Amino acid sequence: MIVLDREHKIFTLHTQNTTYQMKADQYNVLLHTYYGSRIDHFDLSGLIQCGNRSFSPNPNEAGRSRDYSLDVMPQEYSTCGVGDFRLPSIELELPGGSHTADLRYAGFHLEKGKTTPEGLPGFHGGEDEAETLVIFLKDSAAQVTVELYYGVFESFDLITRAVRVVNHGAETVRLCRCASLCLDFLQSDLDMITFNGHHLTERCPDRGSLRPGIQSVGSVRGISSHQHNPFVMLCGRDADEDTGICYGAMLLYSGNFEAAAECSQYENSRLVMGIHPYHFCWTLEPGGTFTAPEAALVCSPNGFGEMSRQYHRAIRKHLLRDPYSGRRKPILVNNWEATYFDFTADRLVEIAREAAALGIELFVMDDGWFGSRNDDNRGLGDWQVNLEKLPGGLEALVPRIQELGMKFGIWMEPEMVNEDSSLYRAHPDWVLHVPGRSPSRGRGQLVLDFSRRDVRDSIYDQMKKILSSADISYLKWDMNRSLTDVWSASLPAHRQGEVFHRYVLGVYDLLERLHRDYPHILIEGCCGGGGRFDGGMLYYTPQIWCSDDTDAIDRLRIQYGTSFCYPVCTMGAHVSAVPNEQNGRITPLETRGITAMSGAFGYEMDLGKCTAEEKRKIRCQVERYKAYSDLIHNGDYYRLSSPFSDSTYTAWEQVSPDRRQALVSVVQGCTNAAPPFYTLRLKGLNPAFQYQTDLDDALYSGASLMNAGYPLPQMQGDYLAFQIFLKAVE
Ligand code: DGJ
Repeated sequence: MIVLDREHKIFTLHTQNTTYQMKADQYNVLLHTYYGSRIDHFDLSGLIQCGNRSFSPNPNEAGRSRDYSLDVMPQEYSTCGVGDFRLPSIELELPGGSHTADLRYAGFHLEKGKTTPEGLPGFHGGEDEAETLVIFLKDSAAQVTVELYYGVFESFDLITRAVRVVNHGAETVRLCRCASLCLDFLQSDLDMITFNGHHLTERCPDRGSLRPGIQSVGSVRGISSHQHNPFVMLCGRDADEDTGICYGAMLLYSGNFEAAAECSQYENSRLVMGIHPYHFCWTLEPGGTFTAPEAALVCSPNGFGEMSRQYHRAIRKHLLRDPYSGRRKPILVNNWEATYFDFTADRLVEIAREAAALGIELFVMDDGWFGSRNDDNRGLGDWQVNLEKLPGGLEALVPRIQELGMKFGIWMEPEMVNEDSSLYRAHPDWVLHVPGRSPSRGRGQLVLDFSRRDVRDSIYDQMKKILSSADISYLKWDMNRSLTDVWSASLPAHRQGEVFHRYVLGVYDLLERLHRDYPHILIEGCCGGGGRFDGGMLYYTPQIWCSDDTDAIDRLRIQYGTSFCYPVCTMGAHVSAVPNEQNGRITPLETRGITAMSGAFGYEMDLGKCTAEEKRKIRCQVERYKAYSDLIHNGDYYRLSSPFSDSTYTAWEQVSPDRRQALVSVVQGCTNAAPPFYTLRLKGLNPAFQYQTDLDDALYSGASLMNAGYPLPQMQGDYLAFQIFLKAVE
């Protein structure tokens, strides 16, 4: 609910459990007055105290008064060069060469519903699902307006932010920084949690107290990256899974980003998040506009778990565009780890036949089916079937897969090209490169200049020919390197600071065309696994291959970290062979199944090599997943332990919205002789319900399971796992 106090220029955004408030003050500076647990009917600007602070200048309008300074006031969208020395949200280069921005309140607009920013990903909601507030700020000298967009999804405690800048002047202005959100706090006794790692180890949480000065994470790789995720949290020092205030900030963007928190001189703090200012500079001609990507905030007064569940619900309902929405997604088998580049049509059909016999429903042909792609140094860019490997092309292969009762999926890496390809030989100028320099290779490949429409059109023509040549149900869109040599032959020198962002817009453009032309195709995002696991990609690709690391024990950590923001239905997760291809670890099949089941489930192994007993187990796993997939994907997710702090076991739980069913998954670490007896306290149940478990047939009350716990069975052996299904009985 959005409450307006026109007279005092107070804007209050209420969600079910939280309140967010802004107020334009006597100088029309838009102050941020509050964000936290819900408070009704109150002007919270009284919390802000002013006073004379040396070296914190006063705006000209304040005259001789020294009691007001932008440097100490909580700002809604911080400016630069005019008195606030903390993290700026916006930086304008004006025609005279100054780098300043001075924004004052100039009006508002309110509308029902929530639309997505043009050409960008975003949460969407109908008129009865969300409201949008637009606040106009104006820099009079620059003749620039900044529109701050707030989408309020009340029942999800979700507030979206987006920013649009318009040059109303007669001269060109350059935008050197344009954050998507700025969030000021009057206090700084907060912790910041970020999600970090590298290829094969993504999104590991790191928690640290805010220190004086600036602390930040970000990416300048052109992708949101394996190294840092564009989702961060701030929380009270005492906050944990179930208690304490916490704030999530998610940027719906798949390129360079920065999330920076500053603890300032008088112990206030500020979080600024948006496109990374490195090599960003957007030229706004007269009448020109720029839209910064959307960000989404969730505040939970009840710890991290509730924040995550609100994100999960909101992402599922208002962000993902999934052709399987409301239906179970097919269980897939992918041939990558089974064959790598070395396959024939018969070999693929063999894998599919084995899979179909086990109840698997979709066969995905990974890398290696096109051009001269017999290893990863050649072929990218030539999206024509390699007829030596697949005689008769997809027209011959796909029906053979479908005869087995399976759907067919295909892998592509549209943004890339190898020098050893017909595409590169014809268009060497289509790659990102700096004149006079030979571009760096990554995985032996170069990056196509997706900021260029002609390049995108040509790739899309090739993609369409493939996607229309057979009945294709699924596309894995891969991307396997960071961007370097970022320079576009299509833009003049003063616009080269736009290329990083235009590249991302180009990727979104092609993905949007796929949505338009092939709405039935389920697209899985992938970037060497989880290098572009962000809210931006999720808008186009409702699931993302979580990591190239398929080891079940490593995956516990990756999926745990990922779950802080992103729902399990978005995490591509497969059972693979042992010893694991990435780390050599041997884990039981049951453990691999239970871990992968908390994701968009599939297999990635040569099922023909499995023993009869393994096949029997896989058949059971597949049946179990089919039975529980609604609970797993649409239920509420509870982290019961952390794989980072507890080596004994990792446990999590999914609870149905009516709380009548729950599935608890437990994976043990390394075994010990004569271990203690553990009880596991469950969460999210109805304390008054009686639950029956499928493990021991006993009856437990919800209250006892949540407060006293469930006695965990003792197991001998490393990395064993089990699930407990609970059902409320009348
Ligand atoms: C990286 C992906 O993450 C893998 O799953 C696989 O598709 C390879 N690329 C293929 O080159």
